[in-house]
Amino acid sequence: MLEEFTFLATAKWPKNIQTKATAPSNIALVKYWGKEDIQIPKNTSLSFTLSNCKTTTFLELEEKKEAIEETQIRVFLDDKETPSFVPKIQKFFRLIDAYCPYLKHYNATIRTSNTFPHSSGIASSASGMAALALCLVQVEKSLQPEILEADLRKKASFLARLGSGSASRSIDGGLILWGKHQEIDGSSDLFAVPISSKIDPIFKDYQDTVLLIDRGQKQVSSSLGHSLMNGHPFAEARFAQAQNNITELQSYLASGNLKEFMRLVESEALTLHAMMMCSRPYFILMAPQTMEVIHKIWSYRDETKIPVCFTLDAGANVHLLYPKKYTTEVHEFIEQELKQHCQDQAFIHDEVGAGGEFL
Ligand code: PMV
Repeated sequence: MLEEFTFLATAKWPKNIQTKATAPSNIALVKYWGKEDIQIPKNTSLSFTLSNCKTTTFLELEEKKEAIEETQIRVFLDDKETPSFVPKIQKFFRLIDAYCPYLKHYNATIRTSNTFPHSSGIASSASGMAALALCLVQVEKSLQPEILEADLRKKASFLARLGSGSASRSIDGGLILWGKHQEIDGSSDLFAVPISSKIDPIFKDYQDTVLLIDRGQKQVSSSLGHSLMNGHPFAEARFAQAQNNITELQSYLASGNLKEFMRLVESEALTLHAMMMCSRPYFILMAPQTMEVIHKIWSYRDETKIPVCFTLDAGANVHLLYPKKYTTEVHEFIEQELKQHCQDQAFIHDEVGAGGEFL
């Protein structure tokens, strides 16, 4: 139990509490892949917080009639009751019980919706858990009004992490770091923080177009994925590489060296997939269209000198990253060359955003 995140409010708990919050998705530049219990990352990761791909959540807590009654949790996705989400939330509530002790006094109804389609292949766990964590700390704020906004956001990141590791990076905006780094003061395994080192203005409004190559469910769940790093023959080398990549990336973010930025980001994406391809069991999560798109990006970059690069999540979709000033040219490239490789020609334009909000 960590004292820093203890719930201190002594006010009388009301019969009914309602809170609402929104949180965006994020895309990792240096990837988190491998963890220890409970949601402690094996290496530091660094991400762009996005803006358009987000989850909005409304949380309603209603006092139980009998304190010993089991907590009832109901989840509605886009106004449709979705019992399949309940076990994950139950597990999350159990994990955070010591930090949100009021939860056991209430039954909870969670109404949530995403701006991106459920069947887009975009994981909603980061934005979903971050939005729920922001709702929870708002409950705390209503019971303990003097609590500072900065402390609330830190606790939201701490709670979100316990729901889904990468969700810790969806509370604040811009470039976000999660995981203790030997050279970065203030970095922590327990919550994410905005990077405090210098950032060239080119990265402040960086663009990310998500090319929806495969809109199906994830082939490999996150928990299975992370567990593949336990006993992986290259695990230790990978974790050390990620720590070095964080140091290197920080210097490119400061200098605005796009050539080196793109090299590092693409290498991170391919390393994530390489780790999966040589784990036991092994997986290939890229689809043939993923490869077609990657080769087209490389040719386009060679021919036009426009600094566009890609990154990947643990799936087939491609995130196309580029500076805002090239938006017109890159959108034309997507229309003419890339969208034909997307399922139903679907893609989502997104960009670096300001983080989650209390509503
Ligand atoms: O937060 P999780 O457990 O869903 O893991 C996310 C892992 C990657 O998306 C592949 C990488 C990352 O850092 O976001």
